[in-house]
Amino acid sequence: MIKYANFVISSPDVAQCPQSTLPEYAFIGRSNVGKSSLINALCHNPKLAKTSQKPGKTLLINHFLIDNRWHLVDLPGYGFAQAGKSQREKLRRMIERYCLLRDQLTNLFVLIDCRHEPQKIDLEFMNWLGEQGVPFSIVFTKADKLGKERLAMNIEAYQNTLLGKNTDHVDDSVAVWDELPPIFITSSEKNTGTDELLAYIEQINATFLPPTSH
Ligand code: GTP
Ligand code: MG
Repeated sequence: MIKYANFVISSPDVAQCPQSTLPEYAFIGRSNVGKSSLINALCHNPKLAKTSQKPGKTLLINHFLIDNRWHLVDLPGYGFAQAGKSQREKLRRMIERYCLLRDQLTNLFVLIDCRHEPQKIDLEFMNWLGEQGVPFSIVFTKADKLGKERLAMNIEAYQNTLLGKNTDHVDDSVAVWDELPPIFITSSEKNTGTDELLAYIEQINATFLPPTSH
């Protein structure tokens, strides 16, 4: 469990991000998918990262220091249609530069709304991560919005799409994965899946940080 979570800084570009050697984990995904809410749920602080019912709330790279040992990063969403072309381009560059140039980035969590069918923009983004060798996991969000059966069906359908077993909703330009990345199912509303997510982060941290005293 996280004891201390503190906001550090908002940066407009990777070049201005904190100079630090701490391992870093970032949340990315479409606008409104629930990135900021999940950070708040993990930290048990609803006011830590700013959230909104309207997409396009987070527009900078936000660093949070966790237990003085690692950083959580809240990124802007991608693909927000109403944002306008130049704003979308600006955010895309900010996100891409962060993913490619941030040496401290240990793992990226790609958030996907569990209610929707696989979207091309997410699949293409994950393909790009694969091509660039950026390690990532998939986090399904808003699990509280679906019943148990529907949720299981949607997750299975998503996995099948990634594995190339279901080509109904995406075209052939989307690559097929041989192996699935780690997958988490979460709800910030009900605090579902947050322990699993933290355990995964701690497991990675343990490979290069000294153990905590508590
Ligand atoms: P941007 O910063 O605009 O890219 O969005 P974001 O991905 O940070 O989303 P944010 O956390 O601001 O949440 C968007 C909306 O979804 C808010 O109204 C949240 O209350 C809601 N939301 C987020 N997570 C959950 C969840 O697990 N369950 C439910 N029911 N609503 C959620
Ligand atoms: Mg946000």
